[in-house]
Amino acid sequence: MLAGIGAAALLVGGFALGPAAFGDAAPGKHPAAEIHKPSPVPDRIILTPTDTPATSQRVTWRAEATAEWAQAEILESPKALGQVAPPTGALTNVKALSTTPVNTSLGYASTYHTVEFTSLKPDTRYTYRVGDGTNWSEWIDFTTAASDFEPFSFIYYGDAQNYIDTAVPRVFRQAFADRPKAKAIVNAGDLIDSANSEEQWGQWFQAGSFIDGQINNISIPGNHEYSGGSVSSFWAPQFPYPKNGPAWGDNPAIDRTAYYVDYQGVRFIGLNSNVQSVPEVMAAQTAWLEGLLENNPNKWTVVTFHHPVYSTASGRNNPIIRDQWGPLFEEYGVDLVLQGHDHTYGRGSTVASRKSATVHASTVYAVSVSGGKMYDVSGDNWTGNGADIMSSSEDTQLYQLIDVSDDTIRYEARYANGQHHDGVLIRKNEDGERTVNEIRTPQNTTGEQAQVNKTLVPAEGRVQVTAYGYDPGEKVTVYLRNTKAEEDKNGVFVGYKNADELGRLTYSFALPPSAKKGSTHVVYLDSANQQITSPVITVTK
Ligand SMILES: [Fe+2]
Repeated sequence: MLAGIGAAALLVGGFALGPAAFGDAAPGKHPAAEIHKPSPVPDRIILTPTDTPATSQRVTWRAEATAEWAQAEILESPKALGQVAPPTGALTNVKALSTTPVNTSLGYASTYHTVEFTSLKPDTRYTYRVGDGTNWSEWIDFTTAASDFEPFSFIYYGDAQNYIDTAVPRVFRQAFADRPKAKAIVNAGDLIDSANSEEQWGQWFQAGSFIDGQINNISIPGNHEYSGGSVSSFWAPQFPYPKNGPAWGDNPAIDRTAYYVDYQGVRFIGLNSNVQSVPEVMAAQTAWLEGLLENNPNKWTVVTFHHPVYSTASGRNNPIIRDQWGPLFEEYGVDLVLQGHDHTYGRGSTVASRKSATVHASTVYAVSVSGGKMYDVSGDNWTGNGADIMSSSEDTQLYQLIDVSDDTIRYEARYANGQHHDGVLIRKNEDGERTVNEIRTPQNTTGEQAQVNKTLVPAEGRVQVTAYGYDPGEKVTVYLRNTKAEEDKNGVFVGYKNADELGRLTYSFALPPSAKKGSTHVVYLDSANQQITSPVITVTK
């Protein structure tokens, strides 16, 4: 009975929502100038890191306010506000460092203000608000970086660029829902489509909403942040990044667009790939990059720029980027290279670093897209230039969650609906050796994944087997299995060995006397996480 009422109500609801129920004249499109016009009340509030993220923090916002009055208040995060006044003396008032009006095509200027909070305590939660002393934002919390290594998470997005007000917000919000305590958001360029569009920047900030006020933003520009050879007039006022780029002041083309931040044990390097065809600027940037990689006190290194080393869209190629930066990433052991531009997804590493069917030992290159514009995927530019593309997709909106810990970086790409798409676990030991392990699936933990040093072995001769993809210290049982034996039989027990700290296994043994001349065998490695075999070994004499 109840079910019947429910169905009827839905049906009525269906009619009520049909097109015939609406009026004759459709409403007009609400103008962008109305949607995005500024007021004295702050909006577009965003955190950008300083050179010293453990003790200082920049906040930028937009508001109709004069330089004289633009200001912020900050205190160590209180248990309550509202009716509860901040403790006496707890509140610090900070005057804006800069106020920059950006003229827009919508008939008004958008004025950006930046404050820098200094003398903060490391790894401490603060609460702040911005405004003009009368018109304030809400109170917003952030936590400073720890002064040394501490595990943390960050989020990475490829191009948002299109459908910013329709398809992008759900991606940003799902990422935040999955990693609400992320310390940074990395944008690999093309945040918007038209460099100087006030409307699109307004949409981009609305998509990020309150999230940008509490998580540091590490963005670099793509080609769509450029117009007529110049970076967007919104760029520097919105993203006042540290002045630590190459030849600061000499290359206005890359001001605020190439910089680095050492954050809690990770060196983040932002590069400007838009200048790849300007040799002298590119040379300055490449030399600066090498210096940062050579003298890097951090265990982990993440580099982001727009145009990929290995392109994931058909017909695209960035040989200058690949030739100048690719070898540096490999030589200095960069862990993650996060890119955009191709409106597809690709993730892989160099062929030279391949250790097994699924495990590599080098830099992880990723290309991703968060927005709704899609291209056809192609792995040709990877395979044609010495790289394995281990995962790819098209027509997928994605966000990436990256969890940094002492010994591992876990990287995972998820779809807009929150489902898993792809992932790797990067392990690094104290010597800087790495393994890049695919996140385990039933497919990559069974089958012929182990290697042997020879496949023709004399009776009772020695064989060395190697395999990857284990947990550190995982116990592996080694068997020699006659190929004529039934699949479900383990074979002859040979020995035990524990995988090392990077999940590698190397085990050397003599063939047991039962392996007679002319017989054929596989090495079978059994452990908690994988059941894998080697190619066939033939006993020769
Ligand atoms: Fe692009």
